[in-house]
Amino acid sequence: MERRKALKWSLIGGGAGVGALTLGLGGTVAYFYNKAEVDTVGKVDFDSPLAIPPLAESEEDSSGARVFNLDIQSGETAFKSGPATRTWGINGTYLGPTIRAKRGEEVAFRVVNSLDESTSIHWHGMHLPAVMDGGPHQEVEPGGDWAPQWTINQQAATLWYHPHPHGRTAEHIYKGLSGMFIIDDDESEALGLPSEYGVDDVPMIVQDRKFDDGNQLDDSGAFLSSQGVLGDEILVNGTLGPYFEVSSRLVRLRLLNASNSRLYNFGFSDDRTFSLVATDGGLMPEAWETDRIELSPGERAEIVVAFEPGEAVTLRSYPIEEGYVFGLGRFNGADDRFGICRFQVANSLADETEIPAAMGTAPDLDGAEVAEERSFSLSGTSINGEKMAMDRIDFGVREGTVEVWEVSNHDGYMHNFHVHDVQYQVLTVDGDTPPPHLRGWKDTVRLVPQREYRIAMRFSDYTDPNLPYMYHCHLLTHEDAGMMGQFVVLGEDEEIGTVPEVSTVHDHS
Ligand code: C2O
Ligand code: CU
Ligand code: CU
Repeated sequence: MERRKALKWSLIGGGAGVGALTLGLGGTVAYFYNKAEVDTVGKVDFDSPLAIPPLAESEEDSSGARVFNLDIQSGETAFKSGPATRTWGINGTYLGPTIRAKRGEEVAFRVVNSLDESTSIHWHGMHLPAVMDGGPHQEVEPGGDWAPQWTINQQAATLWYHPHPHGRTAEHIYKGLSGMFIIDDDESEALGLPSEYGVDDVPMIVQDRKFDDGNQLDDSGAFLSSQGVLGDEILVNGTLGPYFEVSSRLVRLRLLNASNSRLYNFGFSDDRTFSLVATDGGLMPEAWETDRIELSPGERAEIVVAFEPGEAVTLRSYPIEEGYVFGLGRFNGADDRFGICRFQVANSLADETEIPAAMGTAPDLDGAEVAEERSFSLSGTSINGEKMAMDRIDFGVREGTVEVWEVSNHDGYMHNFHVHDVQYQVLTVDGDTPPPHLRGWKDTVRLVPQREYRIAMRFSDYTDPNLPYMYHCHLLTHEDAGMMGQFVVLGEDEEIGTVPEVSTVHDHS
């Protein structure tokens, strides 16, 4: 144990670490170093049709709200031959239905927790009142229910939902609790982008998992990894080794990294280019053509891919190109390569959609009047040296104002940064204009170590002096360990209040 710790620290030193790695501790580390790399390219059969999560059904209630029923339950899922895997799901045994709603609509949920422990459902990327946010202050007791309701008040985007019980988010997501939440609006519908769900507009919930000999999910952390569990097999929408039958020339893929800690660098087996059309918060002002897109946990990207009749091509994940000190990347999955999903293309293709020259509106917070600047330094499992406390509100922001936050990762490990309630604009990265994939609206951004990210966001509409929103690292073991803070949005005359006592606070220290 002692030695393992020392080794970890020596690795952080980068150059010095490499020295220790190759000279001092040679044999053992070299063994684990080689063993740590996962490469499934060419080894996946792709013989299962990609599951498409069903669209959630809804009914209109007397007030005109669309009501969705979500039942959180445990069950068994057959991912592979042999014993079934014990999993959790929403209205099913693994993952949940895709919720789809339109801007301006009032949505209501009847969330029932049929598990034998408390959990919550958080709407990642959603602009909504704090009391509906589904964070650690809105846990649902076993056997209990929860009925959040709000009006969809943001542009078309690919969001998602997942549990957020403090200290147990990693475990709950790993067992299978996640789903996609798609928002539509008039502007996006008028664009002519591929939009037939499951046909040319395809959700792809990407998760790595590790199975033990009995086919059960293994969430133990990888050797020398600072990121917790790293799986060696990839599920897309809960399907191992998926293929998808393409029937139109252009296909939109809604990529969601719903993994606990793994980063992906998506690209195709023939290195073809594709168009990034939307980031976390909605459509890009214009499509960006690229052959790779990196996503850290929690991030989404909508890409449009063009296919040729009769061909087959595989979506892969390639090594992460930057941000890991040599040696550390290997133990955190950065060198891994995966076959993700095979696309089998029909001999004749529908061709009715297009990628328009102009799509969304560009983020416009650059140059806005800034009410407050704050800085956040992430290192270890703390933010600004502090760990999350359920009863501590870290600061209050004023409704209607724009703030600029300077966020940086001050250690050699990987982190990212997610803020609830808002979509933000990345103004600069180390003082420079951000790369194209960070120029749209974002709610989660990877923090390359030692780099400084300035992000701007406007807080609007909903205030609550007592109930906070979260900001945190979305590598789930870090979040659970306390790499999270809380802020409230205050109305004009409001002061920071007191977090109401919750009955379901769990101490996992
Ligand atoms: Cu994906 Cu605090 O959430
Ligand atoms: Cu969130
Ligand atoms: Cu982190």
